[in-house]
Amino acid sequence: MLIVGNDAVRQVLDGRELEVLAAVRRAYQQHARGATALPHSVFLRFPQDTRNRIIGLPAFLGGDNAVAGMKWIASFPGNVADGLERASAAIILNSMDNGHPVALIEGSTISARRTAASAAVAAATLRPATPDTGVSLIGCGVINFEVLRFLRVVYPTITEVTLHDLDRDRAAEFARRCDPDLAVTIADGLPAALAAHGLVSVATTAAVPYTDLAECRPGTLVLHVSLRDVTIDGVLSSVNVVDDPDHVCRAATSPHLAEQHLGHRDFIHAALGDLLLTDTEHPRDPVKTTLFSPFGLGVLDLAVADLVMTHARAAGLGVELPDFLPSAIPAAAR
Ligand SMILES: NC(=O)c1ccc[n+]([C@@H]2O[C@H](COP(=O)([O-])OP(=O)(O)OC[C@H]3O[C@@H](n4cnc5c(N)ncnc54)[C@H](O)[C@@H]3O)[C@@H](O)[C@H]2O)c1
Repeated sequence: MLIVGNDAVRQVLDGRELEVLAAVRRAYQQHARGATALPHSVFLRFPQDTRNRIIGLPAFLGGDNAVAGMKWIASFPGNVADGLERASAAIILNSMDNGHPVALIEGSTISARRTAASAAVAAATLRPATPDTGVSLIGCGVINFEVLRFLRVVYPTITEVTLHDLDRDRAAEFARRCDPDLAVTIADGLPAALAAHGLVSVATTAAVPYTDLAECRPGTLVLHVSLRDVTIDGVLSSVNVVDDPDHVCRAATSPHLAEQHLGHRDFIHAALGDLLLTDTEHPRDPVKTTLFSPFGLGVLDLAVADLVMTHARAAGLGVELPDFLPSAIPAAAR
């Protein structure tokens, strides 16, 4: 058993954005080919507590280097006021030879980066007529910081960033941490932020939809990472791309509310993995908003965790615990 903590995970992943993007892309393609197993996520909630939760995402990712495992990720929004990150996670990887757990990896950075990479893969796939030079970030937390990192890899043309957060101090802190090469502005409210650029990433902690995206420019791509921000009207007036229709139409996400309203899912235009399997281009609609709503598939966590395990082991990072499992039963005793 290899145990890998957060410092080692960061050490492995920093500077490997292209590898992470490739791993996430491959995982989506494998999912579209039917080479994955992905039961629905399990939401653990607590009596008299509507705020906190822990989600389990079991998954199997097939292919040359098949792997199974599970991400167990907690969201305690009150942590932020105590100077801690909202989300914390552990990922277990299992061998496909004998089912043994082979690695226990700190998962919050992996989770944030696979989420950001999936948004960037969508942005790179759903291309505008001219490359994006700016992005609006709604919600200035951990996820949008990573989204900005990965968007800049797929769109090196991005030089302007417009921020909006209900908590202006968080927006100011985010701006302070940004690369000085970027022109960063804090918007004067949500409408101004939505109108500022043709590329928008929404990663808030909103539980109830609050925007129909009416202020977006024609042809805007909205990366709807937090899933519960856009009203039913906003969903139905957009071109909808998701990661998996079965997964995303759950847990009171905006697409789920739209499905409940209509009684069907015909408003979903495509799944990203299917688009990634074709050789053709997928230009954004020049007039309508394109809305990418990713539920967040456990296979993405496995793909990136597997990459971390391989590089950590090669670099001697982490702690090996050879006696974690019971030793083999002697042949005479079987
Ligand atoms: N789809 C996926 O795969 C996936 C994966 C990971 C996280 N997420 C989601 O991404 C979201 C962001 O995660 P995070 O770790 O960055 O959280 P965070 O707590 O670090 O940051 C969220 C920020 O959003 C701000 N905010 C809340 N409501 C807002 C609103 N209505 N308008 C503007 N700003 C608002 C908060 O003030 C906070 O600064 C969470 O909802 C999380 O569940 C999705």
